[in-house]
Amino acid sequence: MSSKYLLLCIFIICPLFLSSSICFTFDSGEEYLISPFARSHPLRRYGNNGRGYYPNNHWKSGRYQSSSFWNFARGRRSHGYWHPAGSDSITLGWPFHSSAKANAHLGLVKVDEYGAKGDGRTDDTEAFKKAWKVACSSERGVFVVPNNGIYHLKPITFSGPCQSGFKVKIYGKIRASKDPSDYERDTTQWLVFENLDDLRVEGGGSINGNGKNWWSKSCKVDTSQPCKTAPTAVTFHNCNNLRVADLTIKDAQQMHLTFRNCENVRATNLRVIAPESSPNTDGIHVVGTQNILIDNSLIQTGDDCVSIVSGSRHVEATNIECGPGHGISIGSLGADNSEDYVSDVYVHGAKLSGTTNGVRIKTWQGGSGYAKNIKFQDIVMTNVTNPIIIDQNYCDGEEHCHEQGSAVQVSNVVYQNIRGTSATEIAMKFDCSKTHPCQEISLRGINLRTQLRDKAEASCVNVELQDERMVSPNCP
Ligand SMILES: *[C@@H]1O[C@H](CO)[C@@H](O)[C@H](O)[C@H]1NC(C)=O
Repeated sequence: MSSKYLLLCIFIICPLFLSSSICFTFDSGEEYLISPFARSHPLRRYGNNGRGYYPNNHWKSGRYQSSSFWNFARGRRSHGYWHPAGSDSITLGWPFHSSAKANAHLGLVKVDEYGAKGDGRTDDTEAFKKAWKVACSSERGVFVVPNNGIYHLKPITFSGPCQSGFKVKIYGKIRASKDPSDYERDTTQWLVFENLDDLRVEGGGSINGNGKNWWSKSCKVDTSQPCKTAPTAVTFHNCNNLRVADLTIKDAQQMHLTFRNCENVRATNLRVIAPESSPNTDGIHVVGTQNILIDNSLIQTGDDCVSIVSGSRHVEATNIECGPGHGISIGSLGADNSEDYVSDVYVHGAKLSGTTNGVRIKTWQGGSGYAKNIKFQDIVMTNVTNPIIIDQNYCDGEEHCHEQGSAVQVSNVVYQNIRGTSATEIAMKFDCSKTHPCQEISLRGINLRTQLRDKAEASCVNVELQDERMVSPNCP
């Protein structure tokens, strides 16, 4: 056994059943049970005041191999009972051959064991699907993408629900298939995790969308091409209590990481990287999601660093470094006369360098709904083209946008302690709707200068300021 495993107790129940048992607790808090005759005298009930396991014949027999003398079962203890962990009980020889062999079976489902090659060439999609099925249906299953492989994948949907305690560990590298025909069924998504509760995805590995081919065909790069949606590299859809941490996502076909219709999300320690010239490659996109914290992440892409759109509430982003890219954005909202709602957004502790926008709210004419209760605080800008901007005349289509009467209402927006440099003279721009002016806008402690340290200017149209303290530049 490897040294990270802590041997907690060794005890022997001999007289009655001649079965000796060894119980291990590992650092994860999971417990493992070893016993001869585990099949004929399965051990299930936990008792003896926490000192051992009693034999019990009711353990689902037949699901456990017993080809060798020692059986090894995984499960957990609660309410005085031993709960075996599904079908992943395994058999080990005694003494243990190697920690590698034990590792390979301790609820860890490595894609390599299901045929993945990880050689940087072979398509590993089917192996990933098989491994997912096994890991997802095992209690406390762990889906593992091992460290030294480069795995090529076509579009794939990892669906739940899975058994409790399920985890995904991405240690290695995952790369997208470059062949457009692989995406014919759905050109909008590459890797999708959906209908999962209490999921954790982590491991320090990387996910590469191989986006180059898609970028060159984007209508933003080649204007002779029609405007089509390219895949989002990683999508979490319908996930509650989700944690995504310690991953690099790069060169997405279009957006990098989307949270759609999720609740209670923590996204931390992420690196999202694509060239400045890559079109529509938003870093982290939040849609229809509530209670999400994005923390401690570096985002360098060709589009929005973080974009927060309709149906999102209680969004917090902190310790974010952006640039290059288009900055932190709420919206766009109200496209195609849609009704969009975003509220309670708190962005604090962000550094933006060389981005085209700093903190932006963008809405199309003709939309409805609202963007309200928004606070941008403690933000440092370096050479940002539009450091503070509300743009209610946003227009990013192929066609010219004409003037329309309705608009998404923007209200209660606080800008506090925002300083640094603007790449242009206009460091602050409120271009609000004539029919629905921006309301309750507060500016506190703004100090923005031009890159040459000259005084910057503000442009303020249809904006109702509630509070303006220590502000430079200020609205005329
Ligand atoms: C500032 O930004 C402008 C426009 O994005 C760019 O041309 C210029 O090189 C940048 N300056 C510095 C010092 O980074």
